[in-house]
Amino acid sequence: MKDAALTSLTLRRPDDWHLHLRDGAMLQAVLPESARHFARAIIMPNLVPPVVTAAQASAYRDRIMAALPSDMTFEPLMTLYMTEETDPDDVEAAFTSGIARAVKLYPAGATTNSASGVTDFDRIRPVLDRMADIGMPLCVHGEVTDSRIDIFDREAVFIDKVLKPIRKKNPDLKIVMEHVTTEDAVDYVRDAHKNTAATITTHHLIINRNNILAGGIKPHYYCLPVAKREAHRVALVQAAISGDKRFFLGTDSAPHTDPAKLQPCGCAGIFTAPNTMSCLAEVFEAAEALPKLEAFTSLNGPRFYGLPPNEATITLKKGDPVTYPEQISTGDGPVTVFDPGFPLHWHVTP
Ligand code: DOR
Ligand code: ZN
Repeated sequence: MKDAALTSLTLRRPDDWHLHLRDGAMLQAVLPESARHFARAIIMPNLVPPVVTAAQASAYRDRIMAALPSDMTFEPLMTLYMTEETDPDDVEAAFTSGIARAVKLYPAGATTNSASGVTDFDRIRPVLDRMADIGMPLCVHGEVTDSRIDIFDREAVFIDKVLKPIRKKNPDLKIVMEHVTTEDAVDYVRDAHKNTAATITTHHLIINRNNILAGGIKPHYYCLPVAKREAHRVALVQAAISGDKRFFLGTDSAPHTDPAKLQPCGCAGIFTAPNTMSCLAEVFEAAEALPKLEAFTSLNGPRFYGLPPNEATITLKKGDPVTYPEQISTGDGPVTVFDPGFPLHWHVTP
């Protein structure tokens, strides 16, 4: 059957392999937006202060579960924030006890709340070696922070200058290159070792840098890594629809209040949790690849993380335009929902 004929699609319940839930009032407001559609999510640890230790991850997990509405189910898969002081024994204990599923590596200064990240990658070698030994994945924010490197080149330079040396020294380490934005990253993952995978966000499948900068600056399309030129977006779509098991969804849904985004130095982050599945269905339909959506959202991620896919399903039904709020209100202020720039027709039903 041609995709054009499809009006209903049932998939295993999706998971989000890269999600920012924040804490406190923001957590309370945004968690249901993810739990409505996603069974599990890899929870980013870039709180202030960051989630560094097993004990901190366990406490954060408890706060997430306490914020979950009683009629919803959701499993947060916790990560630890890598610092140059991270203790390999603590990381191993967090992994073997099931408290943490991965460690997140932020180059210091690369993005929101990354100040405690890593500058000297040799200093984390004992942690990386231990992670390789125990099979614990490393999630990488792949951008160099050198101010001399053009922001649009920072991902490609990171691959050459940081990722390739890490990979060479540690072939057994499972690495997820998070939120890839370039053809260079797609090619790197495609040509790489079996232990290498990448997440792709919803918004990077939809916007390019013109959406941010042409015809007036659009702070709600600003995130890091910043969206690149159209050829890169096309490469990301090709990777997402390919069915290649090394590419899976990580929304990087990253709520910031409107006042925090709409100012002379606005925060990076795009809030896609409420309409991600409808957006993705449009992208896959336009690429005549709807039958590949399930691999991207529901099968490839658990496979890489060594988890079973979800047994429950959701059904996407095509119909009148989906309505979703322009903003959600939170105890911290309003948060604008991602506007893909075209109507969405795919409704998510349980
Ligand atoms: O745009 C982004 N927002 N990129 C990141 O890497 C972090 C995130 C956030 O936490 O707001
Ligand atoms: Zn992120």
